[in-house]
Amino acid sequence: MSNQPIKCKAAVAWEPNKPLSIEEVEVAAPKKGEVRVRIIASALCHTDVYTWSGKDQEGKFPCILGHEGSGIVESVGEGVTSVEIGDHVIPLYTPECKECKFCTSGKTNLCQKIRVTQGQGVMPDGTTRFTCKGQEVFHFMGTSVFSEYTVCAEISIAKINVDAPLDKVCLLGCGVTTGVGAALNTAKVTKGSNVVVFGLGAVGLAVIQGSQLAGATRIIAVDINEKKYKLAADFGATDFVNPLSEENKDKKIQDIIVGMTDGGADYSFECIGNVETMRAALECCHKGWGECTIIGVAEGGKEISTRPFQLVTGRVWRGSAFGGVKGRSGVPEYVNKYLRGEIKVDEYITHNFNFEQINDAFTALKGGDCIRAVMHY
Ligand code: APR
Ligand code: ZN
Repeated sequence: MSNQPIKCKAAVAWEPNKPLSIEEVEVAAPKKGEVRVRIIASALCHTDVYTWSGKDQEGKFPCILGHEGSGIVESVGEGVTSVEIGDHVIPLYTPECKECKFCTSGKTNLCQKIRVTQGQGVMPDGTTRFTCKGQEVFHFMGTSVFSEYTVCAEISIAKINVDAPLDKVCLLGCGVTTGVGAALNTAKVTKGSNVVVFGLGAVGLAVIQGSQLAGATRIIAVDINEKKYKLAADFGATDFVNPLSEENKDKKIQDIIVGMTDGGADYSFECIGNVETMRAALECCHKGWGECTIIGVAEGGKEISTRPFQLVTGRVWRGSAFGGVKGRSGVPEYVNKYLRGEIKVDEYITHNFNFEQINDAFTALKGGDCIRAVMHY
C-alpha cells in the first residue's frame, strides 16, 4: 500500500477543442477499493476525440481523457483483493462489480455500480485523484489513461496474463473487444451466414474478425473510404461496397445489399455512429430473421427511424456496448485468445507515438489512414 501522491506527466484537456497539454500532475494515493496503475501504453479512440471536441454533454473539463490502455499496478487502496502490486492490467470503462442488479442478471455486461460518479468524472466517493497547478482535474470514463499514473476503482480493473505485450493488448480495452464481442456474444453470428459490416475502422474490422471466427461464409464490407478494403480483406471480408461509387451513388445501400445476398443479410453491424447507416443496416437485413446490431455511437440527441413494418416482418434491431463482454471476467480471456493466436491485435496498429506526441496521434486518428495509434509511455 502507498499513501503518497505521485507527480507525473499527463495530457490535460483544459477545454474543448484545444490541444491537450502535457503537464505535471499530482496523482493522489488510491483510497479504499481503488487501484493506482502505471500506464504503459494506450491508444486513441473516437470517444476520446468526441469528448475532447466538446460535443459530449457529459464531458467535464479540465479532464484527463483516454480509455483504451494497459499498465501495471503500482499500489492498491484498503480492501483491494483482486489485484496486487506488479499485476498487469487493463482499465475498464465498463466495470464489473459482480453484485449489482445488472451484474447478477446474467443478461448484460453493463455494470451500474459506479455509473453515476463515472459519468460525473469523479471517483465513487465523489472526489478526483488528479490535481494540476492547484486545480482539480476530472477523470474520464473511470479510466483516464492519458496519464503516466491513474487511479481506477478496483471493479474497473481487469487483471491479465503477464506474458501479453502491454503495447498491443491495450487495444482490447475498447475497439477490438467491442467488435469481436459484438459478433460472438451479442449477435452470435452463426456458421455459414452472410454478414454486412458498415464502417471499416477498428470496430468494423474487429466485427469482420469475429464473424470469420464464427464461421460466416460471406462478409460484405461497406465503407466510403476504399483505402480500408485491403485491411478488411486481410481480416476476412469477401465483398466490398462503396455507397458513393459512380455505380452506387444513386442507389440506396440497403437495396444494393439485398440484391447481392438473395434477400438480405443474416447479420448486419453498424460501426460508424451515423443514424442514416443505422437505418440502412436494419433495412438490408433479410426478412423474417435478419438481425442488425448497432455499435457506433451517434452524436447526443440524434434519433433513429424506420418503418415499423421492418420489425413486424421479423428483422431485429439491437445494440451492443463493449461487445457484451463483462470486463473483469471476459477481457483476460480475450488477452489469452490473442496470445494463443486466435484473434489479431497487432494488425490494427497503424501508427505509434511517444506519449508526449499525443496531439499528433489525435491528428493521425482524424486522417483517413489511421486504424489505431498507440502511444508508448
Ligand atoms: N458509409 C460508409 N462508411 C462510412 C460512412 C458512411 N456514410 N461514414 C463513415 N464511414 C466509414 C469511415 O470511412 C471509417 O472507415 O466508417 C469508418 C469508421 O471508422 P472509425 O472512424 O475509425 O471508427 P471506429 O474506431 O471503428 O469506431 C466506430 O464505434 O465505438 C464507436 O464511437 C465509435 O461511433 C464510433 C464507431
Ligand atoms: Zn455490477
